[in-house]
Amino acid sequence: MSLHIGAAEGDIAPTVLLPGDPLRAKWAAETFLDDVRQVNAVRGMLGFTGTWAGHPVTVQGSGMGMASLSIYVNELIRDYGVKRILRIGSCGAMQPHVGLRDVVLAQTASAVSTPSATILRELSFAPCADWGLLRAAARAAETRGTRHHVGGIYSSDTFYDERPDLTEQLIRHGTLAVEMEAAELYTLAARHGVQALAVLTVSDHLQTGAALDSGARERSFGDMVQIALSAAFPETPDI
Ligand code: HPA
Repeated sequence: MSLHIGAAEGDIAPTVLLPGDPLRAKWAAETFLDDVRQVNAVRGMLGFTGTWAGHPVTVQGSGMGMASLSIYVNELIRDYGVKRILRIGSCGAMQPHVGLRDVVLAQTASAVSTPSATILRELSFAPCADWGLLRAAARAAETRGTRHHVGGIYSSDTFYDERPDLTEQLIRHGTLAVEMEAAELYTLAARHGVQALAVLTVSDHLQTGAALDSGARERSFGDMVQIALSAAFPETPDI
Protein backbone atom coordinates (compact mmCIF):
# COMPACT_ATOMS: atom_id res chain seq x y z
CA MET A 1 0.00 0.00 0.00
CA SER A 2 1.05 3.56 -0.62
CA LEU A 3 -0.65 6.76 0.49
CA HIS A 4 -2.98 7.00 -2.50
CA ILE A 5 -2.89 3.45 -3.91
CA GLY A 6 -4.41 0.62 -1.88
CA ALA A 7 -2.93 -2.25 -3.90
CA ALA A 8 -0.90 -4.85 -2.04
CA GLU A 9 2.78 -5.19 -2.88
CA GLY A 10 3.01 -7.33 -6.00
CA ASP A 11 -0.48 -6.32 -7.19
CA ILE A 12 0.91 -3.63 -9.52
CA ALA A 13 2.65 -4.83 -12.70
CA PRO A 14 6.03 -3.39 -13.84
CA THR A 15 4.17 -1.99 -16.88
CA VAL A 16 1.39 0.54 -16.27
CA LEU A 17 -1.06 2.17 -18.65
CA LEU A 18 -2.08 5.51 -17.16
CA PRO A 19 -5.28 7.16 -18.38
CA GLY A 20 -6.46 10.34 -16.66
CA ASP A 21 -10.00 9.05 -16.28
CA PRO A 22 -10.48 6.18 -13.78
CA LEU A 23 -13.53 4.92 -15.68
CA ARG A 24 -11.44 4.73 -18.81
CA ALA A 25 -8.96 2.65 -16.82
CA LYS A 26 -11.81 0.23 -16.04
CA TRP A 27 -12.94 0.18 -19.67
CA ALA A 28 -9.41 -0.37 -21.04
CA ALA A 29 -8.64 -3.13 -18.53
CA GLU A 30 -11.94 -4.95 -19.13
CA THR A 31 -11.71 -4.57 -22.91
CA PHE A 32 -8.06 -5.44 -23.54
CA LEU A 33 -6.73 -7.48 -20.60
CA ASP A 34 -7.38 -11.04 -19.40
CA ASP A 35 -7.81 -12.16 -15.79
CA VAL A 36 -8.56 -8.60 -14.67
CA ARG A 37 -8.89 -7.71 -11.00
CA GLN A 38 -9.41 -4.32 -9.37
CA VAL A 39 -6.38 -3.35 -7.30
CA ASN A 40 -7.18 0.23 -6.30
CA ALA A 41 -10.23 2.30 -5.40
CA VAL A 42 -8.71 4.91 -3.05
CA ARG A 43 -10.45 8.25 -3.80
CA GLY A 44 -12.22 6.52 -6.70
CA MET A 45 -8.98 6.54 -8.70
CA LEU A 46 -9.53 3.02 -10.00
CA GLY A 47 -6.68 0.66 -10.87
CA PHE A 48 -6.81 -2.81 -12.42
CA THR A 49 -4.24 -5.51 -13.04
CA GLY A 50 -4.50 -8.27 -15.64
CA THR A 51 -2.50 -9.74 -18.47
CA TRP A 52 -2.06 -8.90 -22.13
CA ALA A 53 -0.67 -11.71 -24.31
CA GLY A 54 0.55 -13.26 -21.07
CA HIS A 55 2.33 -10.11 -19.85
CA PRO A 56 1.19 -8.57 -16.54
CA VAL A 57 -0.19 -5.04 -17.02
CA THR A 58 -1.78 -2.53 -14.63
CA VAL A 59 -4.15 0.19 -15.80
CA GLN A 60 -4.31 2.99 -13.21
CA GLY A 61 -6.17 6.32 -13.34
CA SER A 62 -4.00 9.42 -12.79
CA GLY A 63 -6.63 12.15 -12.54
CA MET A 64 -6.44 15.35 -14.57
CA GLY A 65 -3.41 17.62 -14.58
CA MET A 66 0.22 17.27 -13.61
CA ALA A 67 -0.31 17.78 -9.86
CA SER A 68 -2.58 14.73 -9.67
CA LEU A 69 -0.49 12.61 -12.05
CA SER A 70 2.63 13.38 -10.01
CA ILE A 71 1.16 11.71 -6.91
CA TYR A 72 0.35 8.45 -8.74
CA VAL A 73 3.55 8.31 -10.77
CA ASN A 74 5.75 8.94 -7.70
CA GLU A 75 4.01 6.18 -5.77
CA LEU A 76 3.96 3.73 -8.69
CA ILE A 77 7.71 4.10 -9.17
CA ARG A 78 8.90 4.55 -5.59
CA ASP A 79 6.52 2.23 -3.71
CA TYR A 80 5.68 -0.39 -6.36
CA GLY A 81 8.85 -0.49 -8.48
CA VAL A 82 7.08 0.26 -11.77
CA LYS A 83 9.50 0.37 -14.71
CA ARG A 84 7.39 1.50 -17.68
CA ILE A 85 4.51 3.98 -17.77
CA LEU A 86 2.45 4.71 -20.86
CA ARG A 87 0.01 7.55 -20.54
CA ILE A 88 -3.11 7.00 -22.65
CA GLY A 89 -5.30 10.05 -22.99
CA SER A 90 -6.91 12.66 -25.15
CA CYS A 91 -5.46 15.83 -26.61
CA GLY A 92 -6.50 18.89 -28.54
CA ALA A 93 -4.88 19.23 -31.99
CA MET A 94 -2.98 22.45 -32.70
CA GLN A 95 -1.93 21.95 -36.34
CA PRO A 96 -4.11 21.79 -39.46
CA HIS A 97 -2.61 18.45 -40.56
CA VAL A 98 -3.48 16.76 -37.23
CA GLY A 99 -7.05 15.47 -37.42
CA LEU A 100 -9.69 14.15 -35.05
CA ARG A 101 -9.04 10.50 -34.06
CA ASP A 102 -5.37 10.72 -35.12
CA VAL A 103 -2.87 9.37 -32.63
CA VAL A 104 -0.14 11.70 -31.36
CA LEU A 105 3.04 10.15 -29.97
CA ALA A 106 4.60 12.80 -27.77
CA GLN A 107 8.34 12.97 -28.46
CA THR A 108 8.68 15.97 -26.13
CA ALA A 109 6.35 17.89 -23.84
CA SER A 110 6.78 21.63 -23.29
CA ALA A 111 5.26 23.32 -20.25
CA VAL A 112 5.10 26.72 -18.60
CA SER A 113 5.61 24.93 -15.32
CA THR A 114 5.43 21.46 -13.81
CA PRO A 115 5.32 20.26 -10.20
CA SER A 116 9.04 19.51 -10.68
CA ALA A 117 9.78 23.20 -11.37
CA THR A 118 10.30 23.68 -7.63
CA ILE A 119 13.43 21.50 -7.76
CA LEU A 120 14.55 22.33 -11.30
CA ARG A 121 14.43 26.07 -10.48
CA GLU A 122 16.00 28.12 -13.29
CA LEU A 123 16.54 25.07 -15.49
CA SER A 124 14.35 24.80 -18.57
CA PHE A 125 14.45 20.99 -18.62
CA ALA A 126 13.41 19.24 -21.87
CA PRO A 127 11.06 16.39 -20.94
CA CYS A 128 11.23 13.68 -23.62
CA ALA A 129 9.79 10.25 -24.29
CA ASP A 130 11.72 7.01 -23.95
CA TRP A 131 13.14 6.32 -27.38
CA GLY A 132 12.53 2.56 -27.30
CA LEU A 133 8.85 3.00 -26.43
CA LEU A 134 8.45 5.82 -28.95
CA ARG A 135 10.00 3.80 -31.76
CA ALA A 136 7.92 0.73 -30.91
CA ALA A 137 4.72 2.80 -30.74
CA ALA A 138 5.41 4.42 -34.12
CA ARG A 139 6.00 0.96 -35.61
CA ALA A 140 2.80 -0.38 -34.04
CA ALA A 141 0.80 2.58 -35.40
CA GLU A 142 2.29 2.01 -38.87
CA THR A 143 1.49 -1.71 -38.73
CA ARG A 144 -2.10 -0.99 -37.66
CA GLY A 145 -2.51 1.66 -40.36
CA THR A 146 -3.43 4.27 -37.74
CA ARG A 147 -2.96 7.89 -38.77
CA HIS A 148 -0.33 9.13 -36.34
CA HIS A 149 2.10 11.99 -35.71
CA VAL A 150 5.36 12.06 -33.75
CA GLY A 151 6.55 15.37 -32.32
CA GLY A 152 6.31 17.92 -29.55
CA ILE A 153 3.21 18.56 -27.50
CA TYR A 154 2.28 21.10 -24.83
CA SER A 155 1.32 20.10 -21.27
CA SER A 156 -0.90 22.88 -19.97
CA ASP A 157 -1.87 23.68 -16.39
CA THR A 158 -5.28 24.87 -17.51
CA PHE A 159 -8.02 23.43 -19.69
CA TYR A 160 -9.76 26.80 -19.95
CA ASP A 161 -6.93 28.73 -21.51
CA GLU A 162 -6.66 32.51 -21.18
CA ARG A 163 -3.37 32.91 -23.10
CA PRO A 164 -4.15 32.95 -26.84
CA ASP A 165 -0.73 34.55 -27.43
CA LEU A 166 1.00 31.51 -25.95
CA THR A 167 -1.13 29.12 -28.01
CA GLU A 168 -0.14 31.12 -31.08
CA GLN A 169 3.59 30.76 -30.25
CA LEU A 170 3.21 27.03 -29.63
CA ILE A 171 1.45 26.57 -32.97
CA ARG A 172 4.13 28.66 -34.66
CA HIS A 173 6.80 26.37 -33.18
CA GLY A 174 5.15 23.25 -34.61
CA THR A 175 3.53 21.91 -31.43
CA LEU A 176 1.19 19.10 -32.43
CA ALA A 177 -1.31 19.09 -29.59
CA VAL A 178 -2.16 20.13 -26.04
CA GLU A 179 -2.96 17.98 -23.01
CA MET A 180 -2.26 18.36 -19.29
CA GLU A 181 0.04 15.60 -18.00
CA ALA A 182 2.95 14.38 -20.16
CA ALA A 183 5.65 16.92 -19.17
CA GLU A 184 5.59 15.87 -15.52
CA LEU A 185 5.37 12.17 -16.42
CA TYR A 186 8.49 12.48 -18.59
CA THR A 187 10.33 14.49 -15.94
CA LEU A 188 9.60 11.98 -13.18
CA ALA A 189 10.55 9.07 -15.46
CA ALA A 190 13.88 10.75 -16.22
CA ARG A 191 14.54 11.41 -12.52
CA HIS A 192 13.87 7.81 -11.53
CA GLY A 193 15.36 6.08 -14.58
CA VAL A 194 12.18 4.46 -15.88
CA GLN A 195 10.59 4.45 -19.33
CA ALA A 196 7.65 6.69 -20.24
CA LEU A 197 5.60 7.59 -23.28
CA ALA A 198 2.36 9.49 -23.88
CA VAL A 199 0.11 7.97 -26.55
CA LEU A 200 -2.73 10.40 -27.20
CA THR A 201 -5.89 10.46 -29.29
CA VAL A 202 -7.07 13.74 -30.76
CA SER A 203 -10.49 14.40 -29.24
CA ASP A 204 -10.87 18.03 -30.32
CA HIS A 205 -9.27 20.59 -32.60
CA LEU A 206 -8.23 23.99 -31.29
CA GLN A 207 -8.26 25.61 -34.72
CA THR A 208 -11.56 24.29 -36.10
CA GLY A 209 -13.50 23.68 -32.85
CA ALA A 210 -14.39 20.14 -34.07
CA ALA A 211 -14.77 17.50 -31.35
CA LEU A 212 -15.46 13.76 -31.18
CA ASP A 213 -18.77 12.56 -29.76
CA SER A 214 -18.63 9.97 -26.99
CA GLY A 215 -19.15 6.93 -29.30
CA ALA A 216 -16.36 7.99 -31.63
CA ARG A 217 -14.13 8.68 -28.63
CA GLU A 218 -14.50 5.12 -27.36
CA ARG A 219 -13.83 3.51 -30.75
CA SER A 220 -10.74 5.57 -31.49
CA PHE A 221 -9.39 5.27 -27.95
CA GLY A 222 -9.22 1.51 -28.52
CA ASP A 223 -6.60 2.06 -31.21
CA MET A 224 -4.49 4.08 -28.77
CA VAL A 225 -4.64 1.35 -26.10
CA GLN A 226 -3.57 -1.32 -28.61
CA ILE A 227 -0.66 0.85 -29.76
CA ALA A 228 0.44 1.44 -26.15
CA LEU A 229 0.31 -2.29 -25.35
CA SER A 230 2.20 -3.20 -28.53
CA ALA A 231 4.85 -0.57 -27.69
CA ALA A 232 5.28 -1.93 -24.16
CA PHE A 233 5.79 -5.48 -25.46
CA PRO A 234 7.20 -5.06 -28.96
CA GLU A 235 8.22 -8.69 -29.24
CA THR A 236 4.56 -9.77 -29.02
CA PRO A 237 2.67 -9.98 -32.33
CA ASP A 238 -0.22 -7.48 -32.53
CA ILE A 239 -3.39 -9.15 -31.21
N1 HPA B 1 -6.71 21.37 -23.69
C1 HPA B 1 -6.11 20.72 -22.69
N2 HPA B 1 -6.20 19.40 -22.57
C2 HPA B 1 -6.91 18.71 -23.47
C3 HPA B 1 -7.56 19.34 -24.52
C4 HPA B 1 -7.43 20.74 -24.65
O1 HPA B 1 -7.98 21.36 -25.57
N3 HPA B 1 -8.20 18.39 -25.24
C5 HPA B 1 -7.95 17.22 -24.65
N4 HPA B 1 -7.17 17.40 -23.57
